[in-house]
Amino acid sequence: MSLERWKRAHQAEKQHSTHQSGPPNRNQVNEILKNHGTNISELNNKAVLAVGGGTGIIHRLPNTSLAITADPITDLVSEVLVESSAELCTAAGENLPFISNSFDFVICRNVLDHVVDPNTVLDEIKRVIKPDGKMIFDINTFDIPAPVRRRLSLIDAPHPYHFSTDEVKKLLENSGFKIEYADKWRPSIRKSNLKRSIAILAFRMKKINMLCSL
Ligand SMILES: C[S@@+](CC[C@H](N)C(=O)[O-])C[C@H]1O[C@@H](n2cnc3c(N)ncnc32)[C@H](O)[C@@H]1O
Repeated sequence: MSLERWKRAHQAEKQHSTHQSGPPNRNQVNEILKNHGTNISELNNKAVLAVGGGTGIIHRLPNTSLAITADPITDLVSEVLVESSAELCTAAGENLPFISNSFDFVICRNVLDHVVDPNTVLDEIKRVIKPDGKMIFDINTFDIPAPVRRRLSLIDAPHPYHFSTDEVKKLLENSGFKIEYADKWRPSIRKSNLKRSIAILAFRMKKINMLCSL
């Protein structure tokens, strides 16, 4: 994918409403982690990195030994993160500024379809994760024919990529991840805006939550 396309996604992402609201509350964090087959106590005293952390759960993890987010738009979200104790690092997932084997957990939620090069991001996550570390991963998938799927980026500015479930599994396997837990579900149409409802119904959008090991 071209850098120009990523810049368009980046501009769209900057205007997205989720970046104007703060991080999820404690109950939402518990629910999110449960949906990934883990829980908050598993992260106690652990070094945790969020790749593309945005205003996500990294900012609401109370007892980690280290919490840090590497994201290209930390300047924008810092305004709504005044109560976060996570370190903000302005960086891209394709080139993580950390030494190898540094983190017990890497969180990569709703990010891989926003980046320039998903393979490189996964390889970088694998490099910085400890050998017994885990990745908390999720992404929207579109189980429709590839020629249609590849054109969705023309109408969906923030997302340069629209993967199928099988493509995501292959990407993870190719980077050496094992899927320990997977939960695939269709988001509620009642709670979705028009654009999202169309994606769910017409483009068979689903969400997969995973816990991956090396
Ligand atoms: C939809 S938001 C998800 C934020 C957060 N993970 C969450 O769950 O709320 C996508 C995030 O990916 C970040 N992003 C975009 N390109 C990236 C890249 N190349 N490397 C790392 N993060 C990136 C965006 O800045 C944004 O914060």
